[in-house]
Amino acid sequence: MSKLTFLCFLMLLVVPPRSADEAYPDRFDILSTVEDSDKQEGDYDEFELLDSPYWKSGRGNKVLVNVDAFGAVGDGVSDDTQAFVNAWKEACSTRKSVLLVPEERRYLVNATRFKGPCADKIIVQIDGTIVAPDDPKNWDPKNPRIWLGFYNLNRAVFQGNGVIDGSGSKWWAASCKRNKSNPCKEAPTALTISSSSAVRVKGLTIQNSQQMHFVITRSDSVRVTGVKVSAPGDSPNTDGIHITESTNVVLQNCKIGTGDDCISIVNGSSTIKMNNIYCGPGHGISIGSLGKKNSTGIVEMIDLDTAFLRGTTNGLRIKTWQGGSGYVRSVRYQNVRMEDVSNPIIIDQFYCDSPKNCKNQTSAVAISQIMYLNISGTSRSQKAIKFACSDTVPCTDIILDNIDIQSKDGTVETYCNSASGFYFGYVHPSAECLSSSDKDLTISQAKEAEVTKSSREYLVHTEL
Ligand SMILES: *[C@@H]1O[C@H](CO)[C@@H](O)[C@H](O)[C@H]1NC(C)=O
Ligand SMILES: *[C@@H]1O[C@H](CO)[C@@H](O)[C@H](O)[C@H]1NC(C)=O
Ligand SMILES: *[C@@H]1O[C@H](CO)[C@@H](O)[C@H](O)[C@H]1NC(C)=O
Ligand SMILES: *[C@@H]1O[C@H](CO)[C@@H](O)[C@H](O)[C@H]1NC(C)=O
Ligand SMILES: *[C@@H]1O[C@H](CO)[C@@H](O)[C@H](O)[C@H]1NC(C)=O
Ligand SMILES: *[C@@H]1O[C@H](CO)[C@@H](O)[C@H](O)[C@H]1NC(C)=O
Repeated sequence: MSKLTFLCFLMLLVVPPRSADEAYPDRFDILSTVEDSDKQEGDYDEFELLDSPYWKSGRGNKVLVNVDAFGAVGDGVSDDTQAFVNAWKEACSTRKSVLLVPEERRYLVNATRFKGPCADKIIVQIDGTIVAPDDPKNWDPKNPRIWLGFYNLNRAVFQGNGVIDGSGSKWWAASCKRNKSNPCKEAPTALTISSSSAVRVKGLTIQNSQQMHFVITRSDSVRVTGVKVSAPGDSPNTDGIHITESTNVVLQNCKIGTGDDCISIVNGSSTIKMNNIYCGPGHGISIGSLGKKNSTGIVEMIDLDTAFLRGTTNGLRIKTWQGGSGYVRSVRYQNVRMEDVSNPIIIDQFYCDSPKNCKNQTSAVAISQIMYLNISGTSRSQKAIKFACSDTVPCTDIILDNIDIQSKDGTVETYCNSASGFYFGYVHPSAECLSSSDKDLTISQAKEAEVTKSSREYLVHTEL
């Protein structure tokens, strides 16, 4: 990396006041790209009208497709799978349709794939509860990883005050994570949105999933707002929202508490914006794991702004396996408060979630341009900040700015292995171990550079 690049970057960091738009040079400019994804809001204007009750009476030009009209019983015992399948066929092939799952009922539905493309944008209004059969023994072997799966949709809205309940307790008891004498088997995800675009998910509650709660995969432009995810803190592998091979995803105003990552972002995902997230219990907000079994993992342009984490085993985590390749870069975490969190800030390039010990290897998923701004809270572990990076593929350009993590009882420290970057403002625990790889470049030099306006312009417009 050129010294000019560093200079530019540092200079911009130390010039107050910083406005979000101009603070960082292009390679750190997560904002502009990520904010563009907000602008797609226009796509959904028409749907917003649906928040008013008038369409429920059948007016408003919408065609209501009620699962009850297809024989759904909604008593929590009768098998309503076929009614849902038939109602979906009707709704998906009809223009301006709303598939309605009425309130105050419980619909027992088996593993089902709801496939598009549909005739038009489709609204799935879930006001009641959809519940999964609870016995793993009777699960459809053709859908080992799916409970409610939606595919190939273009412009769809899932909304309502309803609940998607995976009835997962027997699955958890059968997990090899719970009891090592159990065989390690796959388990379904409660809600999957796959191979879709322009999807919005609003207000739903997803709970007690067999395994992951909500997976967004191979999709573009997905906006999730006001969604609640909940499962017991000891339920195994019950990630809250899992994003894979997807771009332009916005998660906003979500409250997530599970037995695994509240949010996990894995391979092939970019331009993911998370805003106003509550997490706990759980394993924190994670990028990864990546690089398992020597695979390539690529994640970039991740922005988390405003989050509160309580009692989680990790806070802001990036986890990669030894032997992987690819990269994680351009990640910004800001305005995060954590209480009683075990590893508040952690990069772990030695992640190993397997019964066998993992060997160190020369290859690793490269990690760079990771920013932590205004992060505060309390740590349960001494290593409140931990950058455990690969000896052969170091972490670079880690930025800490305005960090205050304390311990309730004792001291906290920053651990670094093979990590370099910069820190600004108040940083506690102090991050001296984060030595810059470019030691002769100091902040005062950067400040000097700032006085020359022309040089600034020049630097700002340098291709980075
Ligand atoms: C739902 O699953 C149960 C148990 O496997 C099975 O008996 C039933 O036929 C399934 N229902 C439908 C509509 O496929
Ligand atoms: C684990 O499973 C084995 C075999 O099913 C059982 O005997 C044992 O009691 C279980 N252990 C726990 C802690 O549940
Ligand atoms: C990673 O994501 C890319 C892009 O979607 C995909 O082509 C590749 O197969 C994925 N790799 C793995 C190991 O899943
Ligand atoms: C990953 O690559 C290393 C080094 O080439 C090799 O020793 C190891 O067996 C590979 N692991 C897997 C799971 O393929
Ligand atoms: C820092 O983050 C906290 C917690 O999210 C927030 O309340 C506070 O306003 C932020 N401070 C600044 C200066 O943005
Ligand atoms: C891998 O390397 C790290 C960093 O040098 C070291 O702390 C760790 O003990 C090594 N692990 C193994 C299994 O050799």
